[in-house]
Amino acid sequence: MCGIIGYTGDAEATPILIAGLRALEYRGYDSAGIALAGGGRLRAIKSVGRIDALAEKAAGADAAGTCGIGHTRWATHGCPTEDNCHPHLSYGGRFAVVHNGIIENCDALRKLCESAGVTPRGDTDSELIAHLLELEYDGDPVAALRRVAARLRGSYALGVLCADFPREIYAAKMRSPLIIGLGDGAACLSSDGGAMPECVNRLAVLADGQEARLTPGGAEVYERGRPVAGEFVRCQSSRVAAGLSGYPHYMLKEMCEQPEAIARTVADECKSSRPALPRAGVTLIGCGSSYHAALACAPLVERVTGCRAEVRLASEYICSERVREHGRHCVLLSQSGETADTIAAAEEAERRGCRTLAIVNVHASTLTRVCDSFLCTRAGPEISVATTKGFTTQVGALARLAADSDPAFARELKSLPFAAEEALAAAEKTAEYAGRFARAKCAFFVGRKTDYGAALEGALKLKEITYVPALGIAAGELKHGSISLIEKGTPVVMICTDPALEDKAVLSAASVRSRGAFVLAVTTCARVAEACDGAVMLPRVHPLLSAAVSVIPLQRLAYETALLLGRDIDKPRNLAKSVTVE
Ligand code: M6R
Repeated sequence: MCGIIGYTGDAEATPILIAGLRALEYRGYDSAGIALAGGGRLRAIKSVGRIDALAEKAAGADAAGTCGIGHTRWATHGCPTEDNCHPHLSYGGRFAVVHNGIIENCDALRKLCESAGVTPRGDTDSELIAHLLELEYDGDPVAALRRVAARLRGSYALGVLCADFPREIYAAKMRSPLIIGLGDGAACLSSDGGAMPECVNRLAVLADGQEARLTPGGAEVYERGRPVAGEFVRCQSSRVAAGLSGYPHYMLKEMCEQPEAIARTVADECKSSRPALPRAGVTLIGCGSSYHAALACAPLVERVTGCRAEVRLASEYICSERVREHGRHCVLLSQSGETADTIAAAEEAERRGCRTLAIVNVHASTLTRVCDSFLCTRAGPEISVATTKGFTTQVGALARLAADSDPAFARELKSLPFAAEEALAAAEKTAEYAGRFARAKCAFFVGRKTDYGAALEGALKLKEITYVPALGIAAGELKHGSISLIEKGTPVVMICTDPALEDKAVLSAASVRSRGAFVLAVTTCARVAEACDGAVMLPRVHPLLSAAVSVIPLQRLAYETALLLGRDIDKPRNLAKSVTVE
């Protein structure tokens, strides 16, 4: 949700912090700030809005210094104001804190601060941590951090400066990712390995309950007050701000990367290194688009396992009745691997006696450590808040698992990247229809079976980047109520990629057209196209794989509509790339 960056070394910190925040901006973008150490004091520069506003403010401020921390925020406690923006300075100005996560016992901690005579300036849980550090401080910042961390309930990744040690950064972590990076004469901190400064050539993931002290000479990691060896691995700079490569938006760039990303994901690597889909009951779990990918892939999983596949929203799974699930296998889908609900669902599945398999796009993410095994999609970094290649590669990864036990299906799978390429070209036609969707009071996306998962994903894409209300509906459900919303000109996208479902799709199209709807078919079937007002023709693929193809015109339709409406496509309002709070 939010992003953390820290740097201590010989170079000026501000440009490095601002560049790091730009790489993290997709994680939260309602306010941002940096704090710098030096001259016996800490200075914070903060700004509401985007990183550009912060960079402008820093250019006109005293922003010199070689040690600092930065943060880009997605508000949870308190509105996006400068008081609520990180870094937070402690009441005496000795500590500066950036925090990702949520502190559940913040009411009690606020009372604690107030009883010590400290009145917080803003509404955030994070600010309290800065005050508690100053209250606990006895000359050793790591010890103070350990004592404060012990009081916190919930999740946190913390970056801390102390005015008494102007070349050091302190860190602590619980259930929110934090990574230490080392370069020659520099140490860095980030909530996302992809945002590490270019000087970094070694990385270590901080574990829950650990603290760290970073100096230009390296990093010391502590566990229960004792030094432990940090597990550093060599890396190349993976700065995600690789740029737009000429595209106007990351969303368009990432849509266009899908054929290659799917090809990498389904490539025939060593089968023995892959976990197998068990011939037992499987529960597929995810949030948002990952949940839609799970829905779209359930029929595929059922075909392989011969058992009913259950699909659950992670946020519902964690509060469902704890019935016996021993022997079930849970597959947790998450592009980021950091979604709090999905991580909590993995932990809950384990408590219920299930085996857990994570399908993630970020190798070093929390979910890979929480689950029994994991499999990586090969989408590459995804910056656009609205996921595109994240979804299609999840379908690819599950299809790859299915293909391991089905040679005929494995042959079909080879054609998937080519079909995605054709769908990309076909998707350009959606620009013709975008005006109807931009003007709509509500748009409908309908489909059955695999196409139902794609329909939900199409509706979500439209909602999240255009703010046009949209409903994803199982085609058979239309007549049970939602059809009352159809009026003259209501746009309906009819998805049909399975010849066996063609007749039903023709009937559904007729039932909404007769009530005035404008129906756009996204289909492989000529008869369905003829039964609608407009059509985007898709290449044929195995119907159980089709969500990775049919979703592409839906993504493009949302993109074209958002363009017409002048929306902020890569950073839609109120959203954040990974939702690290429950
Ligand atoms: O990183 P995850 O796949 O776990 O994220 C889950 C959802 O938050 C995510 O898919 C969200 O719905 C996207 N913004 C959709 O574009």
